[in-house]
Amino acid sequence: MTNDKISVLHFPVLDSTNRFALEIKDFSHLTTVVADSQTAGRGRMGRSFFSPENGLYMSVILQPERIKCPLSLCTPGAALAVRQALENEGIRGIKIKWVNDLLLNGKKVCGILTQSQTENGKISKIVIGIGINLCKGEYDFPEDIKDRADWIGFHGDKLNLAKNIAAELNRYICSDNSDICTEYNSYLAYIGESTTVTDYADNNRRVSGTVLGADENCFLKIKTEDGNERLISSGEIG
Ligand code: BTN
Repeated sequence: MTNDKISVLHFPVLDSTNRFALEIKDFSHLTTVVADSQTAGRGRMGRSFFSPENGLYMSVILQPERIKCPLSLCTPGAALAVRQALENEGIRGIKIKWVNDLLLNGKKVCGILTQSQTENGKISKIVIGIGINLCKGEYDFPEDIKDRADWIGFHGDKLNLAKNIAAELNRYICSDNSDICTEYNSYLAYIGESTTVTDYADNNRRVSGTVLGADENCFLKIKTEDGNERLISSGEIG
């Protein structure tokens, strides 16, 4: 890992920081796009992401050749990076809900969406989009997510937090000596608990069982009700 300069492009409002980051041509490794609000924030599975002014919406651009971990570990690495940057700000007790949500007291406080761009059949750019619910303000959550989402209670310098997250991201996924899977497991929520997971790689099959942890690819290990172990590569808990 090197001491790369993190250049921040800050806008009061964008449709989506991920959309902007995917489109810009003039960028370097760790260029970070930040918006105070988004009008069309993108979530996983084509969903939208609620993005009022009391949040942090950022997208970090990574040059694929700088990434040292398998590309499949970028999103788990990003979850660890946000958790660590928040802990550095005194926000403790954050857990990771497989694969890419951060929870505080069991409620979602951050979502992560990784997207990439391909040129001539090769990945040319990776964009890690991060949305954090910072502090309760004028805008409260819409009815459909209100029971599952919360604010972390951060009132500090947003741009400084964004830079620290980008630096942690670089540390986790662009250095030789990070052990993403081991650390990921130590912050994983629901270990030992019964849950139901939607398995996207198996026609959205609903799988019930006990969460055992994540394997070396950060796939979710579940002990199903018939006593077998099942690995889920892509899906969602709950
Ligand atoms: C999810 O929870 O489904 C993922 C949400 C990711 C939201 C962030 S906000 C910044 C970046 N720009 C976007 O349009 N989406 C990501």
